[in-house]
Amino acid sequence: MDPVTNPFAPGAGTPPPELAGRDELLTSVRIALERVRRGLPTKSILMVGLRGVGKTVLLDRMRDDAEAVGIQTARIEAPEARSLPALLAPQLRQALLRMSRNEQAKALAQRGLRALAGFARTLKIKFHDIEVGFDFEPEPGLADNGDLEHDLQALIEAVGAAARSADTALALFMDELQYVEEDQLAALITALHRAAQRKLPIVLVGAGLPQLRGQMGRAKSYAERLFDFPEIGPLDSTAAHDALAKPAREQGVDFDEPALQSILEQTRGYPYFLQEWGKHAWDTAASSPITLQDVTLASQSAVAALDESFFRVRFDRLTPLEKKYLRAMAALGPGPHRSGDISDMLGRKVTSLGPTRNQLISKGMIWSPNHGDTAFTVPLFDEFMRRIIPGKDWQT
Ligand SMILES: Nc1ncnc2c1ncn2[C@@H]1O[C@H](COP(=O)(O)OP(=O)(O)O)[C@@H](O)[C@H]1O
Ligand SMILES: [Mg+2]
Repeated sequence: MDPVTNPFAPGAGTPPPELAGRDELLTSVRIALERVRRGLPTKSILMVGLRGVGKTVLLDRMRDDAEAVGIQTARIEAPEARSLPALLAPQLRQALLRMSRNEQAKALAQRGLRALAGFARTLKIKFHDIEVGFDFEPEPGLADNGDLEHDLQALIEAVGAAARSADTALALFMDELQYVEEDQLAALITALHRAAQRKLPIVLVGAGLPQLRGQMGRAKSYAERLFDFPEIGPLDSTAAHDALAKPAREQGVDFDEPALQSILEQTRGYPYFLQEWGKHAWDTAASSPITLQDVTLASQSAVAALDESFFRVRFDRLTPLEKKYLRAMAALGPGPHRSGDISDMLGRKVTSLGPTRNQLISKGMIWSPNHGDTAFTVPLFDEFMRRIIPGKDWQT
C-alpha cells in the first residue's frame, strides 16, 4: 500500500488515527472536570500503566477536550532530575497571565502572580532549576516561607481562587509523574487536598508508570483516598480490532480477519505495538485486503523497528550490571519474578543486587507489583532482552 497514506502512528506520544477503547475513561474525566469547575467534590485522576499503553496521548486528548469547553489547562512533563517547582512555576504563570486578562479575575490572578514571585524567589535557594519570569513584586508572607509544602499550598490556593473568579477551573495535566521525588509529590498532594477542602476549582490529571501508585501512598498515606488511579492497559480485542481496521477502512483498505487476529496475538493488544504492526502491514501489502501472509512478512520488520526505537532507547540507558539484571529477569520469562530467583540466576545474593534493582526502578525500567516481586514496565521487554543478548554468556 502507498506509504504516503499510511495512517498508523507508532511513536511516544504520537496521536493514533483512532483512539480506541478509551471512551469510558474520557467521559469520566470530562465529568470530573466539569464537577471541579462547579466546585463539587471530585477526585484528581492519576492514570497508571506500562510504557506504550497510551497514557500520554490520553492526557493530550483530555487536555484538548478541557480547553474546548473553556477550562484552563497546564501541560507538564516531569523529566528525570527536574524539580517539581521548576516544572510548575512557568506553567502556573502562563495560566495566571491568561486569567488576568479576564476583567472579573484580574485582581485575584495578579495576586496569584505575586504568590508565584514569592514562591519562586524563596524556593530558588533550594531548587536551583527554577526559572520563571516575574510580572509582579512578591507580597510579603504570601507563599514565601521557603518550605515547599507550605508555599505550594499557598500558591495553589491563590491560583484556584483566580480560576474561580474567572468562572473556570484549572486542570494540571502532568505526565511521567513517577519521576517526581516523593517529598515533592507529598507537597503536591497536600496542596491539592487543601484546594479540594476549600472547593477551589483546581485538579490534577496525571499519568505515570505503575510504581506511581505506591509512591503516592508512601508520600502521603491519604493519597489513595484523594485520587482515582485508573489502570491503563492493553486494548481488549474489540478495541484493538478498531484501532487497526477503522483507520485502514477510512483509506478504503481492509484487513482480512486472520491478518487482524495474527496482529492481535503478537501485540497482545498493546497500543504502541498495534501501531507498529499496522504501519508495517500496510507498507508490506501490495493491495487491499491486507492478508495473513502480509502480516507474517511485516512482523519481522515491525519487531526490528521496535528493537531499534521503543526498546532500544531504554536499553541504551543501562549500565552493564543493569543489563545483566534485566537479562536474568528475561531468562525467567515475562514475570513478575521474585528478587531471590533473579539473584539466583546471577549466582549473587539478593542484598548485593539491591542497589541495581533500585536504580532500575528509579530509571522506570522495572517496578514492584508486590513486596519482593519485580516486573518490567515495558511490555514484551523480556523477549527483547533475549533477542539483544542471546545465549548464556551474560551469566558469567
Ligand atoms: N487507544 C489507542 N488506540 C490506538 N493506538 C493508541 C492508543 N493509545 C495509544 N496509542 C498509540 O500507542 C503509542 C504509545 O502511546 P503513548 O501515549 O506514547 O503511550 P505511553 O505514554 O503510555 O507510553 C502511540 O503510537 C499511540 O499512537
Ligand atoms: Mg508517555
